[in-house]
Amino acid sequence: MRTLLLWMARSPWLRERIPRLSFARRAVRRFMPGEEPEAALTQAEAFREQRIGSLFTRLGENVVRAEEGEATAQHYLGMLDQIAVRGIPGELSVKLTQLGFDVDAGRTLEHMGRLADRAAVDGGVVWIDMEGSAYTERTVAVYERLKAGHANTGICLQAYLRRTAADIQRLLPLEPAIRLVKGAYDEPATLAYRTRREVDANFAALAVAMLEARAAGRAVRIGVGTHDVALIEQIAVHAAALGLPRTAFEVQMLYGIRLDQQRRLVSEGYAVRDLIAYGSAWYPWYMRRLAERPANVLFALRQIMG
Ligand code: FDA
Repeated sequence: MRTLLLWMARSPWLRERIPRLSFARRAVRRFMPGEEPEAALTQAEAFREQRIGSLFTRLGENVVRAEEGEATAQHYLGMLDQIAVRGIPGELSVKLTQLGFDVDAGRTLEHMGRLADRAAVDGGVVWIDMEGSAYTERTVAVYERLKAGHANTGICLQAYLRRTAADIQRLLPLEPAIRLVKGAYDEPATLAYRTRREVDANFAALAVAMLEARAAGRAVRIGVGTHDVALIEQIAVHAAALGLPRTAFEVQMLYGIRLDQQRRLVSEGYAVRDLIAYGSAWYPWYMRRLAERPANVLFALRQIMG
Protein backbone atom coordinates (compact mmCIF):
# COMPACT_ATOMS: atom_id res chain seq x y z
CA MET A 1 0.00 0.00 0.00
CA ARG A 2 2.80 2.43 0.97
CA THR A 3 4.72 1.76 -2.25
CA LEU A 4 1.56 2.17 -4.35
CA LEU A 5 0.64 5.47 -2.69
CA LEU A 6 4.20 6.77 -3.05
CA TRP A 7 4.12 5.78 -6.74
CA MET A 8 0.82 7.67 -7.07
CA ALA A 9 2.47 10.67 -5.39
CA ARG A 10 5.04 10.76 -8.23
CA SER A 11 2.59 10.28 -11.11
CA PRO A 12 2.26 13.49 -13.20
CA TRP A 13 -0.99 12.14 -14.73
CA LEU A 14 -2.66 11.77 -11.34
CA ARG A 15 -1.12 15.00 -10.07
CA GLU A 16 -2.92 16.76 -12.91
CA ARG A 17 -6.31 15.17 -12.33
CA ILE A 18 -6.92 14.27 -8.67
CA PRO A 19 -6.77 17.83 -7.28
CA ARG A 20 -9.65 18.80 -9.61
CA LEU A 21 -12.00 16.42 -7.80
CA SER A 22 -14.03 18.13 -5.12
CA PHE A 23 -14.04 15.07 -2.82
CA ALA A 24 -10.24 15.04 -2.89
CA ARG A 25 -10.19 18.71 -1.94
CA ARG A 26 -12.53 17.89 0.95
CA ALA A 27 -10.38 14.97 2.13
CA VAL A 28 -7.15 16.98 2.18
CA ARG A 29 -8.67 19.43 4.65
CA ARG A 30 -7.85 16.99 7.39
CA PHE A 31 -4.19 17.93 6.95
CA MET A 32 -4.46 21.63 6.13
CA PRO A 33 -6.73 24.39 7.44
CA GLY A 34 -7.16 25.80 3.93
CA GLU A 35 -5.38 26.54 0.67
CA GLU A 36 -5.04 30.27 1.34
CA PRO A 37 -2.16 31.64 3.46
CA GLU A 38 -4.75 33.47 5.54
CA ALA A 39 -6.14 30.14 6.78
CA ALA A 40 -2.65 29.07 7.90
CA LEU A 41 -1.97 32.40 9.62
CA THR A 42 -5.30 32.34 11.44
CA GLN A 43 -4.62 28.78 12.60
CA ALA A 44 -1.18 29.84 13.85
CA GLU A 45 -2.78 32.65 15.86
CA ALA A 46 -5.01 30.08 17.52
CA PHE A 47 -1.98 27.84 18.22
CA ARG A 48 -0.14 30.81 19.74
CA GLU A 49 -2.87 31.01 22.40
CA GLN A 50 -2.18 27.35 23.21
CA ARG A 51 1.60 28.00 23.39
CA ILE A 52 2.16 25.93 20.25
CA GLY A 53 4.54 27.51 17.75
CA SER A 54 4.04 27.22 13.99
CA LEU A 55 6.02 26.27 10.92
CA PHE A 56 4.58 27.38 7.60
CA THR A 57 5.03 25.60 4.33
CA ARG A 58 3.42 26.48 1.02
CA LEU A 59 2.96 23.21 -0.81
CA GLY A 60 4.69 22.79 -4.13
CA GLU A 61 7.84 21.06 -5.32
CA ASN A 62 9.96 20.45 -8.41
CA VAL A 63 9.12 23.68 -10.21
CA VAL A 64 10.44 23.64 -13.77
CA ARG A 65 10.89 27.36 -14.48
CA ALA A 66 13.17 29.80 -12.65
CA GLU A 67 10.34 32.36 -12.53
CA GLU A 68 8.24 29.97 -10.45
CA GLY A 69 11.07 29.74 -7.91
CA GLU A 70 11.33 33.52 -7.87
CA ALA A 71 7.56 33.84 -7.32
CA THR A 72 7.70 31.34 -4.44
CA ALA A 73 10.51 33.30 -2.80
CA GLN A 74 8.47 36.51 -3.16
CA HIS A 75 5.49 34.78 -1.65
CA TYR A 76 7.51 33.64 1.37
CA LEU A 77 8.93 37.16 1.86
CA GLY A 78 5.33 38.38 2.12
CA MET A 79 4.55 35.56 4.53
CA LEU A 80 7.48 36.60 6.76
CA ASP A 81 6.03 40.13 6.80
CA GLN A 82 2.68 38.75 7.93
CA ILE A 83 4.30 36.60 10.63
CA ALA A 84 6.04 39.71 11.99
CA VAL A 85 3.02 42.03 11.76
CA ARG A 86 0.77 39.54 13.57
CA GLY A 87 3.37 38.62 16.18
CA ILE A 88 3.13 34.90 15.42
CA PRO A 89 5.85 32.59 16.78
CA GLY A 90 6.17 31.23 13.24
CA GLU A 91 9.03 29.89 11.15
CA LEU A 92 9.21 28.78 7.52
CA SER A 93 9.91 25.32 6.14
CA VAL A 94 10.83 25.34 2.47
CA LYS A 95 11.61 22.73 -0.18
CA LEU A 96 14.61 23.70 -2.30
CA THR A 97 12.90 22.34 -5.42
CA GLN A 98 10.03 24.78 -4.93
CA LEU A 99 12.60 27.58 -5.17
CA GLY A 100 13.89 26.23 -8.49
CA PHE A 101 16.67 23.83 -7.34
CA ASP A 102 16.16 21.64 -10.43
CA VAL A 103 16.71 24.64 -12.68
CA ASP A 104 19.32 26.85 -11.02
CA ALA A 105 20.99 25.79 -7.77
CA GLY A 106 22.89 29.07 -7.38
CA ARG A 107 19.71 31.11 -7.61
CA THR A 108 18.02 28.77 -5.12
CA LEU A 109 20.75 29.48 -2.58
CA GLU A 110 20.26 33.20 -3.18
CA HIS A 111 16.53 32.86 -2.54
CA MET A 112 17.21 31.02 0.72
CA GLY A 113 19.63 33.78 1.71
CA ARG A 114 17.00 36.44 1.06
CA LEU A 115 14.43 34.58 3.13
CA ALA A 116 16.89 34.07 5.99
CA ASP A 117 17.86 37.76 5.91
CA ARG A 118 14.24 38.84 6.08
CA ALA A 119 13.43 36.36 8.85
CA ALA A 120 16.46 37.49 10.87
CA VAL A 121 15.06 41.04 11.15
CA ASP A 122 12.40 39.71 13.53
CA GLY A 123 14.44 36.88 15.04
CA GLY A 124 12.82 34.28 12.76
CA VAL A 125 14.14 31.02 11.37
CA VAL A 126 13.94 29.37 7.95
CA TRP A 127 14.21 25.59 7.61
CA ILE A 128 15.08 23.51 4.56
CA ASP A 129 12.88 20.44 4.10
CA MET A 130 14.56 17.24 2.94
CA GLU A 131 13.31 15.67 -0.29
CA GLY A 132 14.08 12.34 -2.02
CA SER A 133 17.59 10.85 -1.88
CA ALA A 134 18.56 12.29 -5.28
CA TYR A 135 18.69 15.63 -3.47
CA THR A 136 20.25 14.70 -0.11
CA GLU A 137 23.91 15.50 -0.77
CA ARG A 138 23.10 18.69 -2.67
CA THR A 139 20.68 19.83 0.03
CA VAL A 140 23.19 19.27 2.82
CA ALA A 141 25.80 21.15 0.76
CA VAL A 142 23.40 24.10 0.25
CA TYR A 143 22.73 24.17 3.98
CA GLU A 144 26.48 24.27 4.73
CA ARG A 145 26.87 27.31 2.48
CA LEU A 146 23.71 28.98 3.76
CA LYS A 147 24.53 28.42 7.41
CA ALA A 148 27.95 30.00 6.99
CA GLY A 149 26.27 33.38 6.42
CA HIS A 150 22.90 32.90 8.07
CA ALA A 151 22.78 31.62 11.64
CA ASN A 152 18.98 31.50 11.65
CA THR A 153 18.59 28.51 9.35
CA GLY A 154 17.87 24.83 9.87
CA ILE A 155 17.71 21.61 7.89
CA CYS A 156 15.60 18.46 8.00
CA LEU A 157 17.45 15.10 8.06
CA GLN A 158 15.83 11.68 7.62
CA ALA A 159 16.43 8.85 10.08
CA TYR A 160 15.68 6.17 7.44
CA LEU A 161 18.81 7.14 5.48
CA ARG A 162 21.95 5.23 6.37
CA ARG A 163 24.06 8.33 5.73
CA THR A 164 22.31 10.56 8.29
CA ALA A 165 24.56 9.70 11.24
CA ALA A 166 27.51 10.98 9.20
CA ASP A 167 25.56 14.04 8.06
CA ILE A 168 24.88 14.99 11.67
CA GLN A 169 28.57 14.72 12.54
CA ARG A 170 29.40 16.75 9.44
CA LEU A 171 26.96 19.53 10.41
CA LEU A 172 27.52 19.70 14.18
CA PRO A 173 30.54 22.05 13.97
CA LEU A 174 28.29 24.59 12.19
CA GLU A 175 26.03 24.94 15.26
CA PRO A 176 23.11 23.74 13.19
CA ALA A 177 19.38 23.52 13.70
CA ILE A 178 18.39 19.99 12.72
CA ARG A 179 14.87 18.61 12.44
CA LEU A 180 15.03 14.84 12.56
CA VAL A 181 12.19 12.97 10.83
CA LYS A 182 11.72 9.33 9.85
CA GLY A 183 11.54 10.10 6.11
CA ALA A 184 8.58 10.19 3.72
CA TYR A 185 9.90 8.91 0.36
CA ASP A 186 10.38 5.48 -1.17
CA GLU A 187 14.11 4.75 -0.90
CA PRO A 188 16.05 1.57 -1.80
CA ALA A 189 17.56 -0.67 0.87
CA THR A 190 21.05 0.28 -0.30
CA LEU A 191 20.41 3.82 0.97
CA ALA A 192 17.76 3.43 3.61
CA TYR A 193 16.62 1.27 6.50
CA ARG A 194 13.40 -0.32 5.35
CA THR A 195 11.84 -1.78 8.47
CA ARG A 196 10.00 0.24 11.03
CA ARG A 197 12.13 -1.22 13.82
CA GLU A 198 15.38 -0.18 12.16
CA VAL A 199 14.14 3.32 11.35
CA ASP A 200 12.87 3.88 14.88
CA ALA A 201 16.12 2.58 16.41
CA ASN A 202 18.17 4.84 14.16
CA PHE A 203 15.91 7.80 14.97
CA ALA A 204 16.48 7.31 18.70
CA ALA A 205 20.23 6.85 18.24
CA LEU A 206 20.53 10.00 16.10
CA ALA A 207 18.46 12.08 18.53
CA VAL A 208 20.61 10.87 21.41
CA ALA A 209 23.79 11.74 19.48
CA MET A 210 22.49 15.31 19.10
CA LEU A 211 21.45 15.50 22.76
CA GLU A 212 24.90 14.29 23.81
CA ALA A 213 26.50 16.94 21.62
CA ARG A 214 24.29 19.51 23.28
CA ALA A 215 25.07 18.24 26.77
CA ALA A 216 28.76 18.52 25.86
CA GLY A 217 28.29 22.21 25.11
CA ARG A 218 27.66 22.20 21.35
CA ALA A 219 25.11 24.76 20.19
CA VAL A 220 22.67 22.57 18.28
CA ARG A 221 18.96 23.21 18.02
CA ILE A 222 17.16 19.88 17.95
CA GLY A 223 13.76 19.40 16.33
CA VAL A 224 12.14 16.00 16.84
CA GLY A 225 9.74 15.81 13.88
CA THR A 226 7.52 12.84 14.65
CA HIS A 227 4.07 11.85 15.89
CA ASP A 228 5.51 8.72 17.46
CA VAL A 229 4.83 9.44 21.10
CA ALA A 230 6.70 6.38 22.39
CA LEU A 231 9.81 7.56 20.53
CA ILE A 232 9.41 11.07 21.93
CA GLU A 233 9.16 9.62 25.46
CA GLN A 234 12.30 7.58 24.86
CA ILE A 235 14.18 10.68 23.71
CA ALA A 236 12.86 12.67 26.68
CA VAL A 237 14.21 10.03 29.08
CA HIS A 238 17.66 10.27 27.47
CA ALA A 239 17.57 14.07 27.65
CA ALA A 240 16.71 13.97 31.35
CA ALA A 241 19.46 11.40 32.01
CA LEU A 242 21.92 13.81 30.40
CA GLY A 243 20.74 16.54 32.77
CA LEU A 244 19.13 18.55 29.98
CA PRO A 245 15.92 20.55 30.49
CA ARG A 246 12.68 19.54 28.73
CA THR A 247 13.20 22.40 26.29
CA ALA A 248 16.49 20.89 25.07
CA PHE A 249 14.57 19.63 22.05
CA GLU A 250 11.44 20.79 20.29
CA VAL A 251 8.70 18.42 19.19
CA GLN A 252 7.44 19.22 15.71
CA MET A 253 4.25 17.66 14.34
CA LEU A 254 2.04 18.14 11.32
CA TYR A 255 -1.25 20.02 11.42
CA GLY A 256 -4.17 17.64 11.86
CA ILE A 257 -2.19 14.84 13.48
CA ARG A 258 -2.20 14.17 17.22
CA LEU A 259 -3.16 17.64 18.37
CA ASP A 260 -4.16 16.13 21.71
CA GLN A 261 -0.56 15.00 22.18
CA GLN A 262 0.77 18.39 21.11
CA ARG A 263 -1.33 20.03 23.84
CA ARG A 264 -0.31 17.45 26.44
CA LEU A 265 3.38 17.92 25.70
CA VAL A 266 3.03 21.71 26.04
CA SER A 267 1.25 21.27 29.38
CA GLU A 268 4.17 19.12 30.55
CA GLY A 269 6.73 21.78 29.71
CA TYR A 270 7.95 20.59 26.29
CA ALA A 271 8.37 22.96 23.34
CA VAL A 272 5.99 22.10 20.50
CA ARG A 273 5.65 23.45 16.96
CA ASP A 274 2.96 22.54 14.45
CA LEU A 275 3.75 22.50 10.75
CA ILE A 276 0.86 24.13 8.88
CA ALA A 277 0.74 23.50 5.15
CA TYR A 278 -1.27 25.59 2.70
CA GLY A 279 -1.42 26.22 -1.04
CA SER A 280 -3.08 24.51 -3.98
CA ALA A 281 -0.22 22.16 -5.01
CA TRP A 282 -1.00 19.67 -2.26
CA TYR A 283 -1.31 16.48 -4.30
CA PRO A 284 2.11 14.73 -3.80
CA TRP A 285 2.35 15.93 -0.22
CA TYR A 286 -1.13 14.60 0.56
CA MET A 287 -0.32 11.23 -0.99
CA ARG A 288 2.76 10.96 1.23
CA ARG A 289 0.50 11.61 4.26
CA LEU A 290 -1.80 8.80 3.15
CA ALA A 291 1.19 6.51 2.65
CA GLU A 292 2.32 7.08 6.23
CA ARG A 293 -0.79 5.50 7.64
CA PRO A 294 -3.04 3.19 5.64
CA ALA A 295 -5.96 4.08 7.95
CA ASN A 296 -5.85 7.52 6.34
CA VAL A 297 -7.00 5.96 3.07
CA LEU A 298 -10.14 4.70 4.83
CA PHE A 299 -10.62 8.16 6.29
CA ALA A 300 -10.33 9.69 2.81
CA LEU A 301 -12.81 7.15 1.43
CA ARG A 302 -15.29 8.03 4.17
CA GLN A 303 -14.96 11.69 3.14
CA ILE A 304 -15.71 10.69 -0.44
CA MET A 305 -18.83 8.76 0.58
CA GLY A 306 -20.02 11.49 2.94
P1 FDA B 1 5.02 6.87 12.32
O1 FDA B 1 4.73 6.85 10.86
O2 FDA B 1 5.63 5.69 12.95
O3 FDA B 1 3.70 7.26 13.07
C1 FDA B 1 3.57 7.27 14.47
C2 FDA B 1 2.10 7.50 14.79
O4 FDA B 1 1.73 8.84 14.45
C3 FDA B 1 1.15 6.62 13.98
O5 FDA B 1 0.91 5.39 14.62
C4 FDA B 1 -0.09 7.48 13.89
O6 FDA B 1 -0.86 7.37 15.05
C5 FDA B 1 0.47 8.87 13.81
N1 FDA B 1 0.65 9.30 12.41
C6 FDA B 1 1.81 9.38 11.72
N2 FDA B 1 1.60 9.83 10.47
C7 FDA B 1 0.28 10.01 10.37
C8 FDA B 1 -0.56 10.47 9.32
N3 FDA B 1 -0.08 10.80 8.14
N4 FDA B 1 -1.88 10.54 9.57
C9 FDA B 1 -2.41 10.21 10.75
N5 FDA B 1 -1.64 9.77 11.80
C10 FDA B 1 -0.34 9.68 11.60
N6 FDA B 1 9.66 13.90 5.75
C11 FDA B 1 10.62 14.11 4.84
O7 FDA B 1 11.03 13.17 4.15
N7 FDA B 1 11.13 15.37 4.65
C12 FDA B 1 10.75 16.44 5.39
O8 FDA B 1 11.24 17.56 5.20
C13 FDA B 1 9.76 16.22 6.40
N8 FDA B 1 9.34 17.24 7.19
C14 FDA B 1 8.52 16.96 8.25
C15 FDA B 1 8.25 17.95 9.20
C16 FDA B 1 7.50 17.65 10.32
C17 FDA B 1 7.21 18.72 11.34
C18 FDA B 1 6.97 16.33 10.51
C19 FDA B 1 6.18 15.96 11.71
C20 FDA B 1 7.23 15.37 9.56
C21 FDA B 1 7.99 15.66 8.43
N9 FDA B 1 8.27 14.68 7.49
C22 FDA B 1 9.22 14.93 6.54
C23 FDA B 1 7.49 13.41 7.46
C24 FDA B 1 8.19 12.28 8.20
O9 FDA B 1 9.30 11.83 7.46
C25 FDA B 1 7.24 11.08 8.40
O10 FDA B 1 6.87 10.58 7.16
C26 FDA B 1 6.00 11.41 9.19
O11 FDA B 1 6.29 12.26 10.26
C27 FDA B 1 5.32 10.11 9.72
O12 FDA B 1 6.17 9.44 10.57
P2 FDA B 1 6.11 9.53 12.17
O13 FDA B 1 7.45 9.98 12.63
O14 FDA B 1 5.02 10.39 12.62
O15 FDA B 1 6.01 8.05 12.69
